[in-house]
Amino acid sequence: MNRTDKLQFVATGIMGLDALLENKGFPSGFNIVVMGSPGSGKTTFGLQFLYYGCLNGENGVYVTLDERPESVLRNVLNLGIDLTEFLQKGNISIVDASPIRTIPGEVKLGGISIGKKDFSLAALIAAVTNHVRNINAKRLVIDSLTSFFIQYPRGAERRAAFMELLEGITPLNCTTILLTELRFSGMDRPYQFEEFLADGVIILRKQGKNSAIVRSIQVEKMRGVNHNVEPHPYRFTRGGLEVFPTEKVL
Ligand SMILES: Nc1ncnc2c1ncn2[C@@H]1O[C@H](COP(=O)(O)OP(=O)(O)OP(=O)(O)O)[C@@H](O)[C@H]1O
Ligand SMILES: [Mg+2]
Repeated sequence: MNRTDKLQFVATGIMGLDALLENKGFPSGFNIVVMGSPGSGKTTFGLQFLYYGCLNGENGVYVTLDERPESVLRNVLNLGIDLTEFLQKGNISIVDASPIRTIPGEVKLGGISIGKKDFSLAALIAAVTNHVRNINAKRLVIDSLTSFFIQYPRGAERRAAFMELLEGITPLNCTTILLTELRFSGMDRPYQFEEFLADGVIILRKQGKNSAIVRSIQVEKMRGVNHNVEPHPYRFTRGGLEVFPTEKVL
């Protein structure tokens, strides 16, 4: 998509979520940050998005920066998301980027010695680009930014690295889900810098309701879309996450 073209949409594949997005889904080519607390279903969200794409003829690339691919695939299989055939047929391609975290501090590329961080970012973008081009992917998931950010302890560096990552992946024209941790889960919380830079933001959190804890999903931001902004309950079910768009949490 040329960024000045009229928005086109892709169904998210998350049951019930499109109803919060003008019944259309995600604008094609957007970079969308999905933030959630530990165990909130970020990885499930990402793989469900890719699985649905495959069912509809859109190939996808999954980049894992923390969990091993085998463990991720096994966990979602338990929810009924079976990616085996799509992996075999080349509809889904996995970038196992977890070793990036363990490369030495200084890396020699030809005669030039560069710092670990530069190498990691350049290598990551190059690997993602290769995988996307190889299978002509239309969907991309990065799981998670948290592991990527660990290498950048200073706030300004982190922001610059994230911008560079976005600049690297945006020309690939994929609809991209960037998974990351929600650092503060209250409704009145400080914003995280990723939220300002992304085209869309979705939040997965646990909330108290009538002395019970419910999982809630909220579309905080989606540029160009008249989306619902309220938190709605969601559940883990057969096939992944299911959102209940007519039920309220607050
Ligand atoms: N079969 C299932 N039925 C119900 N809930 C499940 C099932 N399988 C997993 N879960 C829930 O999913 C959570 C893990 O989902 P997922 O790995 O997608 O979360 P995550 O946000 O990526 O976690 P992390 O923060 O570890 O990366 C578990 O903590 C559990 O609550
Ligand atoms: Mg995860």
